[in-house]
Amino acid sequence: MTLPIVVLVSGYGSNLRAVHQAIAQGNCDAQILAVVSDRKRAAALEFAASQGLPTACVPLRAYPDRAAWDAALTDVVARFEPAVVVAAGFMRILGSTFVSRFEHRTINVHPALLPLFPGLEAPAQAITARVPISGCTVHLVDQGVDTGPILAQAVVRVAPSDTADALHTRIQVAEHRLLPRVIAAVAAGHLQLGPVPLWRGPLPDCAEVFSSF
Ligand code: GRF
Repeated sequence: MTLPIVVLVSGYGSNLRAVHQAIAQGNCDAQILAVVSDRKRAAALEFAASQGLPTACVPLRAYPDRAAWDAALTDVVARFEPAVVVAAGFMRILGSTFVSRFEHRTINVHPALLPLFPGLEAPAQAITARVPISGCTVHLVDQGVDTGPILAQAVVRVAPSDTADALHTRIQVAEHRLLPRVIAAVAAGHLQLGPVPLWRGPLPDCAEVFSSF
């Protein structure tokens, strides 16, 4: 059955574009009900509108405090009745109301191999730590920051000469492959979401090294 999703974005939206393309190419049986942003000028919102997708914007500064923003974002997303919410480059920490409402069905993509390097500037953290590999993680959102159950990971080599930006660019190539595959797996019933997510079908090629140097 086609999986109805809402995608949360803040910036360019390359992950949104990858998911949208996978759906258009018949590789991911999902439907994007809406794209919701916290930033009015996010290029991702422009892209969504250009594709005829419904959009909404819920900026933090339009609300007296984080709790009010959290409640508003929860309401806006809930109105679309998604089965799954996909945070694809949403740069704010989701509030507790939102996380509870969409518990066990909010997916995030993070540019590091969690539990290493959670939070902001993960590629820069990897460079500073001089690790030989990093990558991306698709995981469920819980009340912590990048602490929820891991659904899938992809590995990217870190070159000794890498800058954070160069590494992030290569990690994003991996994200664009992994995220649509995870959504497709949920839609196909190969990945069952819940307190303890369970793979029932073929794993995406998690161990693949997507980038070499
Ligand atoms: C991605 O690298 C994602 O891992 C991180 O933010 C970035 C968003 O990129 N959370 P985009 O907006 O999808 O291009």
